[in-house]
Amino acid sequence: MLRLAQALDRQLRAALEMAFPQAAAAAIEAGAPLDPQLAPASKPEFGDFQANGALGLARSLGLPPRKIAEAIVAQLAADPAFAALCLEPVIAGPGFLNLTIRPELLAAEVRARLGDPRLGVPSVAQDAASEGGAAAPVIVDFSSPNIAKEMHVGHLRSTIIGDALARVLEFRGHPVLRLNHVGDWGTQFGMLITHLKEVAPEALTTADAVDLGDLVAFYREAKKRFDDDEAFQATAREEVVKLQGGDPVSLKAWGLLCDQSRREFQKIYDRLAIRLSERGESFYNPHLEAVVADLAAAGLLVVDQGAKCVFLEGVSGKEGAPLPVIVQKSDGGFNYATTDLAAIRYRLAPAPGGDGARRVIYVTDAGQASHFAGVFQVARRAGWLPAGASLEHVPFGLVQGEDGKKLKTRAGDTVRLRDLLDEAVERCEADLRRRLAEEERTEEEAFIHHVATTVGLAAVKYADLSQNRITNYQFSFDRMLALQGNTAPYLLYAVVRIAGIARRGGELAGGGLGDGQGGGFPDPLQFSEPQEWALVRDLLKFDAVVAEVETDLLPNRLCSYLFELSQVFNRFYDQVPVLKAEEPARGSRLALCRLTADTLKLGLGLLGIETLERM
Ligand code: ARG
Repeated sequence: MLRLAQALDRQLRAALEMAFPQAAAAAIEAGAPLDPQLAPASKPEFGDFQANGALGLARSLGLPPRKIAEAIVAQLAADPAFAALCLEPVIAGPGFLNLTIRPELLAAEVRARLGDPRLGVPSVAQDAASEGGAAAPVIVDFSSPNIAKEMHVGHLRSTIIGDALARVLEFRGHPVLRLNHVGDWGTQFGMLITHLKEVAPEALTTADAVDLGDLVAFYREAKKRFDDDEAFQATAREEVVKLQGGDPVSLKAWGLLCDQSRREFQKIYDRLAIRLSERGESFYNPHLEAVVADLAAAGLLVVDQGAKCVFLEGVSGKEGAPLPVIVQKSDGGFNYATTDLAAIRYRLAPAPGGDGARRVIYVTDAGQASHFAGVFQVARRAGWLPAGASLEHVPFGLVQGEDGKKLKTRAGDTVRLRDLLDEAVERCEADLRRRLAEEERTEEEAFIHHVATTVGLAAVKYADLSQNRITNYQFSFDRMLALQGNTAPYLLYAVVRIAGIARRGGELAGGGLGDGQGGGFPDPLQFSEPQEWALVRDLLKFDAVVAEVETDLLPNRLCSYLFELSQVFNRFYDQVPVLKAEEPARGSRLALCRLTADTLKLGLGLLGIETLERM
C-alpha cells in the first residue's frame, strides 16, 4: 500500500500545483511546498485515504476549503493516472477529500504478494544499488552487559528490543552492525583484580578457577571495599592504571575474567537466537586521547577543579548550575561518557578508520537518557556528525514484578535470566502436557520439548516487545503465557491454524494452490464480501507498519498490527465460507488465508520469534 500511497501523494501534489500555480511556486520558493496532507482514512467508510490539505490552505489561498477541494478534484479528474488508481473522490465535511483505491488494484496487490518473500516491502539496498551506491551502515548498540556482573532483566529488555529493531532494519535492506558495547574496562577491573589478588589469586592466572557466580560475589565485595576503604581504593586505582598501561599480568587476568563472563552471556544469546558482535568499551581505549584533543581543538574543553569537561547548553542542574560532561577526571582517568564519545567518533568516521555509519541507535533503560543527551550534544558541537547522520537513544522502562516493584525472586534475590527463561519453558511444557492429555493426544518427547521451548521463549520476547517500551513493564508469566489476548501463544496458534486452513484447501484442490510461488490461485483474485475487503486492506498495511517501525523504533506497533490482523482474519473466517465456497471465491479466499499466515510468520520473524508448524 505504501507504493500506492506514494503514487497518490505525487498526483495530489501535482493537482495542487496545477490548481494554484502562483501559490505553489511561491511555496516552493519558500522551501515549504503545498502539502495535500495525505493520510490513511480515519474510518473505513471514508475509503482508503483522506487528504486534509484544503483546510490548512484556506487562509493562505484566501478561499473556503471546499472550493480548494473542488479545484483539486477538477485537476485530478483530468489525470488519467489518478483515474487508474482511485474511484471518484468525495468531498466531505468542511473540505476533506476522501479517496478510495480501485478494488481491482487492491486485489492485484494481494495477488502480487503471494509467493513474494518480501510481502511487498521494498528494500533500500535495491534502491541504493539502482542509484549506483550502497546504503550506509546502521549501528544498533544493544544488550551491552558488564563483565563480572550478572546480566540482568534490563539487559534482557535491551537484548530483545535491540534484536527486533536490528531485524527490521536488516529486512529493510540496511547493512546493520549489531554491537555489544560490553562494559569491559575501567575502575571495576581495578577493584576486582585487587580484591582477587587477596582472596582468590588463582582466578587471575587460571581459566575458570572460580565460578561466575562467585566472581559476581567477589565483585560485590570488591565494590564494598572500594567504597569503604581508602587504601584499597588507592591500590585499585593503581591497578587500573597498570591495566590501561598494558601490563601483561594485569592484561592476562583481565582477559580471563572477560572470557568467563562472555561465555556466560553467550549462553543467553544462543538460547534466544541472538547475533551480536562484541565490541566492548576496551576497544575504544586507544581513541580516548584523541577525543580529548578534538574537543580541545574545537574549543569546547574547560578545566574545572582539575577535571576536563564540556559544559552542556540548554540543560542545567540544581539551582541552574550548568551541567558538565566530564571527559577526563583530575587523576587522568576516563569514564563511561568518554568511551561513548570515542565510540560515536569512531562509528561516524568513514572507513577504514571508522564504521561510516549514518544512523546509530542505542537501546538502554530510560535512566541513561541524560547521559546520551549529553554525549550526543558534545559530539554534535565537536562537529563529528556528517550531514544526514543521526544518533538516537531508544529508551525503555523498568521491568517490575506483578506487585509493581522491582522484579525479585520469592526469596527476594535478583532474578537470574537463565532461571527466568527456564521457568517460561517449564510452564509451557506443563500447559502443553495438560492440553495433550485433555485432547487424548500422544506426541513424541522431542515434539513436546520443541513446542515448549519455542512458545516459552516467544512468550518472554513478545511480552516485552508488545508493550510500548517507554513505560515500565510488569513481568507476569500468567499474562505472557495466556492463550487469549495479545500474546505469543495466541499468535503462534493463529499461524498454525491459518496455515493449516490454507494447506488443507490447497490439498483438496489437488495440490496446486499455495505452492509457495503464488501459483494455482485464481488470477485475478475476486472478492465480494466486506469481511474480505477488510482483510485485504489490513494485509496491505504490512509494508507501512514495517516502515513505521524502521522510523519510530517502536516494535509494539508491529505487535499490535499482527494481533489486529489475526482478529480481522477471525472475523472473515467466522462469517465467510472458505473451503465450501465455489470458485473463484474459494481460491481467492484461500489466497487470503495463505497471505495472512505468511504475514504473521514474517512479522513474528522480524520480532525474533520463531513460528511452529504444529503445536
Ligand atoms: N554497559 C551499560 C550498562 O550495563 C550499557 C551500555 C550501553 N551502550 C553504550 N554505548 N553506552 O548499563
